[in-house]
Amino acid sequence: MQLGTLKHAVDHKPVASDFAIIEADRPVCPEGGIVIRVVHLSLDPYVGSRLRGRHMGEPAPEPMKGAIPGAIIGQVVESRSPNFAEGDWAHAMEGGWQEFVAIAASEARKIDPNVAPLAAHAGVLGMPGLTAWSGITQLAKVGPSDTVLVDAAAGPVGGTVGQIARIKGADRVVGIAGGAEKCSLVTDTYGFDACIDYKSDGWRDRLAEALPDGLSVFFENVSADMAMLALTHAQTYARGVLCGLVDAYHTETQSQHPLNAGLIIGKRAQLFGLVVYDFYPRWDEYVAEAAPWIASGQLKFAEDRADGLENAPALFERLMNGKNKGKAVVTVAPEQV
Ligand SMILES: NC(=O)c1ccc[n+]([C@@H]2O[C@H](COP(=O)([O-])OP(=O)(O)OC[C@H]3O[C@@H](n4cnc5c(N)ncnc54)[C@H](OP(=O)(O)O)[C@@H]3O)[C@@H](O)[C@H]2O)c1
Repeated sequence: MQLGTLKHAVDHKPVASDFAIIEADRPVCPEGGIVIRVVHLSLDPYVGSRLRGRHMGEPAPEPMKGAIPGAIIGQVVESRSPNFAEGDWAHAMEGGWQEFVAIAASEARKIDPNVAPLAAHAGVLGMPGLTAWSGITQLAKVGPSDTVLVDAAAGPVGGTVGQIARIKGADRVVGIAGGAEKCSLVTDTYGFDACIDYKSDGWRDRLAEALPDGLSVFFENVSADMAMLALTHAQTYARGVLCGLVDAYHTETQSQHPLNAGLIIGKRAQLFGLVVYDFYPRWDEYVAEAAPWIASGQLKFAEDRADGLENAPALFERLMNGKNKGKAVVTVAPEQV
C-alpha cells in the first residue's frame, strides 16, 4: 500500500518536496482494534507544526517510515473489536497518510455516511467544525444581539464559526479573509453580513465601517495582532475565543505573542483559550445538531480537494501558504470498491 512520509526531518514551513510517497506493508489488525480502508484524508494547519515537533508535545513522524499524521475517514475492512463490524464507516484523528490504517477501536469514532457527504466528516462535521461549535456555543455562548468577528473566515473553522453564530441568533457576523475570491465565498456562500479583504488597501477603515456598533465576540484564528485589532473594536464585556495563531506557526518566535493587557482590562474582556481535544467527548452531540443544518442548507461548506495520496504534498503546501479555499481534503480511494 502507499504511505506518505517525511523525506527528512524538517525545521521550516513544510513544502511539497519534504514528503515522499513510499510503498509499505499493509498494517496488521491489533487485538481490540480495527483496520480502516482510507477514503478521505484531512489536511490541517496543526500538522505543519507537528511535523516540526511544535504541536502540543506530539512527536513528529519518523522520516521515510512513519506516516504523516492526519485525520482519516474510511470503511472498516477488518475488526477485532465488538464495537465495529466490517463495513462500518469510521473517523480517526490519528489515522495518517496511508491507504490502510490499523488502530485501537477506542481511537476511532463510528460515523453515519448518510447524514452528509462523506468528506464533510473531515471538515464541517469533523475536527474543524467541532472547534467552531465549541468556541461559539460552549465558550463564547453566542446568542441574540451578538456581533461576531472571525478571521480566516473562508476556512473550515472560520466559515463554520460565522454560520453557527448566525444559527444561534447573532445579529451580525463579519469575516476577515485574504483576497476577493475568499471574501465572496464568505458572504455569498456562507452568508456573512460582510467580509473584509485584509490584503486590500484601506481594509482597517472598512473593518471599522463593518462594525458600526463594535463587536461583542471575536474568534481568533490568525495572530495576536489580529486579536488586539479585534479588541479595539470590542464593546465593553466582549468575549474573545483564542483558537489559533496560524500566522506564527512557522516563524522563529512562534511562542511569543504579546497581548495588550491594558486594553483587555479596559474592555473588561473575557478571553477563552480553546483546545478542541476538550470537546472530543461531545463530537456525536455536535454532529447530531449540525447534520440537520447541513441538510436544510443553513450550514454550508467548501472544499479544496485533491485526488490520490500522491497529490497530498502539493495540497499540503497550498494549505501551509494559506492558498486553500475551504477545507483541504485528499480523496485517497473511491467510496465504493
Ligand atoms: N485550538 C484548537 O483546538 C484548534 C482546532 C482546529 C483549528 N485550530 C486553528 O484554527 C485556525 C483555522 O483552522 P482551519 O483548519 O480552518 O484553517 P484554514 O482556514 O483552512 O487555513 C488557515 C487560513 O489562515 C489564514 N492565514 C493567515 N495568515 C496565514 C499564514 N501566515 N500562513 C497560512 N495561513 C494563514 C489563511 O486564510 P486567509 O487567506 O483568509 O488569511 C489560511 O487559509 C488555525 O489557526 C488552526 O490552527 C485550532
